[in-house]
Amino acid sequence: MPAKESMVIRPARNLLGSIRVPGDKSISHRYAMLAALAPGRSRFENYSPGADCSSTLGCMRALGCTIEREESGAVVIEGIGAQLRAPQTALDCGNSGSTMRMLSGIVAAQPFISELIGDESLSRRPMKRVMEPLRKMGAEIVAHSDCAPLRITGGRLKGIAYQVPVASAQVKTCLLFAGLLAEGNTTVDEPTRTRDHGELALRAFGAEVSRSGNSVNIMGGQVLHPLDAFIPGDSSSAAFFLCAAAIFPESNLVIDGVLLNPTRSALLDVLAAMGSRISVLNIEEQHGELVGTISLTPGKSKPVEISGAQTALLIDELPVLAATAPFGAGLVVRDAGELRVKESDRLTAVTRNLQAMGAQVEQTPDGWRIPGGQNLHGAEIESFGDHRIAMAFAIAALRAEGEVVIHNSECVAISYPSFFGDLEKLLER
Ligand code: S3P
Repeated sequence: MPAKESMVIRPARNLLGSIRVPGDKSISHRYAMLAALAPGRSRFENYSPGADCSSTLGCMRALGCTIEREESGAVVIEGIGAQLRAPQTALDCGNSGSTMRMLSGIVAAQPFISELIGDESLSRRPMKRVMEPLRKMGAEIVAHSDCAPLRITGGRLKGIAYQVPVASAQVKTCLLFAGLLAEGNTTVDEPTRTRDHGELALRAFGAEVSRSGNSVNIMGGQVLHPLDAFIPGDSSSAAFFLCAAAIFPESNLVIDGVLLNPTRSALLDVLAAMGSRISVLNIEEQHGELVGTISLTPGKSKPVEISGAQTALLIDELPVLAATAPFGAGLVVRDAGELRVKESDRLTAVTRNLQAMGAQVEQTPDGWRIPGGQNLHGAEIESFGDHRIAMAFAIAALRAEGEVVIHNSECVAISYPSFFGDLEKLLER
């Protein structure tokens, strides 16, 4: 992680223009992991430049793959097949929950011991959700208080039928990856629909994966083939600009080449329900993923409530929706207890920062109630080392009266290193 920085955000008058965002983080992780398991050369353009996806590349290198970044930024991975090499060092997942949880499913099926480590934030996050089912499949896992570091003694796994207790795409994907490498059939039942990039990526690399309702099934022992792909723009990064455009009455924003996967685009429904006018154009399918152009102009604000299955589909977009909610007509979020175990406790982080800027906000055990029609003032606020909190408040700051100083803003590099520069290009002061 770069040295600690504080970013000063000045108010803006408007947001105008068009932009592309870096490659999707969720897809980048999955493609890199599956490329390692697919014998031959895979190549990915627009691979996420974030530190999290570099952590995944570092781990796959430590597991024996040759990985190069071309001058263009494209990532080339020489896959070695289902059996990886025993790492000589701990597998460093950095700040990345996706890396630790999904990679656990792969190393649990390898005939060696792996130690997965992470930074301070990742070492506090719950890992029991992957440890329990992987133990059922036959892996031996040791961890203190169910948190990293994880010491995984891998071996031959047996397929299982498993009901995931929390809605988590990371857990689902972990088990599908383990299932691919296991003997027999693995079925993963999720409580509500979560992002389906794991399923789509497996198919893109040639595996058969079937779905019936909320249940996903994979047969073990399938051999993957390599893949050349252009990774679509990250919809959770696009969310910051969409929410920014929604709070300026004269704004006009176009985002090209962005992921439109229906399990990742619930924000568009919410922004439309809040009054924005949104068009989606040039839709194409790339390796099972929908990609296209989004354009947004704002309209008259309306209040919105988010709960249940919709909360799960919006999990990464809720911080920026909440941070900008005081400028709209009001927002209520329920069933978002999972936000407490992300890179920070995002329910508390958003509440504290909104309060520091003078907003009224009520934090509930699993969400917020945020009245609309509020004016916010400048303040010094914390990112809590959490990239999505830093970016969410850079957007809220644009409509504040006075400057907002975001401490530890360098953490945006986890998913979007050029965020502040890209934002600046769209602003009118
Ligand atoms: C992700 C799933 C979500 C999300 C995270 C990325 C993924 O986490 O918050 O940023 O790529 O599968 P959970 O699956 O833990 O909800």
